[in-house]
Formats: sequence, structure tokens, C-alpha cells
Amino acid sequence: MQNTAMLNTVMEPIASPPALAYTPAVAEATAPIYRRLEHVMPEIEWLVHAPYVAEIQRLKEERGAIVLAHNYQTPEIFHGVADLSGDSLALARQASETDADVIVLCGVHFMAETAKILNPEKTVLIPDPKAGCSLAESITGADVRLLRERYPGVPVVTYVNTSAEVKAECDICCTSANAVEVVESLGSDRVIFLPDEYLGQYVASQTDVELILWHGHCEVHERFSGEDVRRYRQGTPGVVVLAHPECPQDVLAEADYVGSTSGMIGYVGDRRPRRVVMITECSMSDNVAVEHPDVEFVRPCSLCPHMKRITLPKILSSLQTMEHRIEVDPDVAARARRAVERMLEVGRGKGR
Ligand code: 13P
Ligand code: SF4
Repeated sequence: MQNTAMLNTVMEPIASPPALAYTPAVAEATAPIYRRLEHVMPEIEWLVHAPYVAEIQRLKEERGAIVLAHNYQTPEIFHGVADLSGDSLALARQASETDADVIVLCGVHFMAETAKILNPEKTVLIPDPKAGCSLAESITGADVRLLRERYPGVPVVTYVNTSAEVKAECDICCTSANAVEVVESLGSDRVIFLPDEYLGQYVASQTDVELILWHGHCEVHERFSGEDVRRYRQGTPGVVVLAHPECPQDVLAEADYVGSTSGMIGYVGDRRPRRVVMITECSMSDNVAVEHPDVEFVRPCSLCPHMKRITLPKILSSLQTMEHRIEVDPDVAARARRAVERMLEVGRGKGR
């Protein structure tokens, strides 16, 4: 592996990026990717994406960079340039295991910050630093300190959808994929669970541990209702309903399966429902449809405006300029790292 200190000084911005065009070389280099995407993306759209895909692939190698993409990224990113992809838990695990010197995180800010917390010596880039999250915005480190004063001795679990400052104040982090397991791992009768109220209500329905909740919500998932689910079932008889646990309780009560974004992808791969509706962000269905052309996707969806800030031109610009670098105060990072690493330990040894 290269010396990262050196790497940070050697990697100068690339002064004049080459003009991007759909040349025969680009067509040849990207043809295998487009063959996988052609049933979900018109060729005219691919002609715009392909030059970026080819240039990003080239520059990744030159920079010793790896692209991690969340399941909500658009197909040209998810299938076109990502080296690794997954839900928040998978991204955190992959970030903790990579040998690459540079990580480009295609997702929202807290995901990139988690990657930096786990890799303080590496360069972690986010193509748009304004890619936020309504859950991460809903709580501060000072709020967590106040809750600890109010409930002395009660352990604090925070969803990874939080800032480094909030992670630093908690005992352990969780994601939607491991929240029940993390809460139960503490061996406490009562746990403060922050900040997603709906995920907290779902976890409370799966465990005997008493949860003290916060009023944070995901702006994307809170828009769905149980009435919506009943309408989808009426409109598409036999449709299998998969829902993310950030949805309100009446949605989850109507769903056939509740799980993280990767949990939903796994459900489709393992069970091959004929018709499915994913109650979550729009790009999920697009990405899963690429792998499963035989499955019919009903697509009511809700766009995450933060995830959608990440685009191919911004990823390319990130690699050219080595911007925008994620920096976390070393003391905050060290305390947050303990909470994230403690989470990663839960479930180790079970092949996850
Ligand atoms: P997952 O961990 O299930 O991918 O969820 C992350 C997220 O932001 C969902 O809105
Ligand atoms: Fe945050 Fe919701 Fe967007 Fe996920 S979908 S990043 S929880 S706002």
C-alpha cells in the first residue's frame, strides 16, 4: 500500500480534463455495462453517461481510488462506476476493509463521514458535500448529552444516519439491518434509541427492551401511509410489499417484509416474487430490476433529494480535483469510531 501522507501531497488537481465524447473507444469500453442496463435505460440516455463512466473508470485506477455506492444511487452510478455497493451496514464494513488509498463515497454525508471515521489516514471524498439527511439533521451532540442527564445510566444507541458528533456521544451505532441485534446486545432493560422514531417503533415491536425514542424522521419514508399500501395491493393483485423500517408503523403493519435496503434486495433475489413493490427510495427498484428482468416492479417511490445530488459529472470532478474531502476532528472521530466499531463487532462470526 502507498504511504498516505505522501499520497495526499502528490495528488494535485488535474488541470485540464479531457473533453468527453461518445467515441468508438468509449462505446467499446462501456458496452458490457450497457448490455446489463439496456432493459432499464434508453440508449439515448446511455450516450450521455458512457463518456463519464469510461473516464471515471480510468481515473479511479490512476488515483488508486475505490467507489462505494449506496443502494439509492442511480443505475449509471450503481452499475456503471461503483466497485462496491450496499446498505449503510455494508458500506461501513467495506470502508473498514478496503486497501484503497482514496474512497469516493456515492451516498450522503453521514456515510462518507462514517468511512472517514473508520479510515482516518485515508482520503475520503464525497462528490457533493451538501448531500445531507433529514435524520442526521434532527439531532445534535448536545441533545444526546441532555438525554444522558435525564436518563442516567441508560445506554444510548444511535442510528448511523447521524453526524460524527452524535456518534461520539453514544455507546454504540446501529443500522436498519442490525438495530434489533444491537439493542439486545447491550443486555439492558431500557435503551435510548436515536434519532429515527419509526425505526425505533419497529425495533420496539421486535424486542422486550424498552426504548426511549426521539422524533427524527426520514423525509423520504415518512410520506408513505398504510392507505398507500392498500391501494397498491388493489391496483396490482398478488403484489408482494417490501418496506424499509424508516416507514411509519401503519405502512410496516401492511407489509409482507420489513428490512434494510440490502434486506429487500436479498428478498427479491431469494424469493423471486412475480410482482413486487418496494416502499422506499426510487432508485432501488431501478437497480434491482437490472438484476431481475423477470420480476415486475410496481414503482411508487419517493426521491431522496440528498442522494440525488450525486451525479456522474460530480464524481468525475471529485476524482479530478480530489474534492470534497471529509475531515473529522480527531477527538470526535476517535470516540465515534468506538461506537461504529462496536456495532461492526455485533454479528461478526455469523458471516455478516
Ligand atoms: P439502509 O441502511 O437500509 O441502506 O438505509 C439507509 C438509508 O438512508 C435509508 O433511507
Ligand atoms: Fe436520509 Fe431518508 Fe435520504 Fe436515507 S432516504 S439519506 S434516511 S433523507
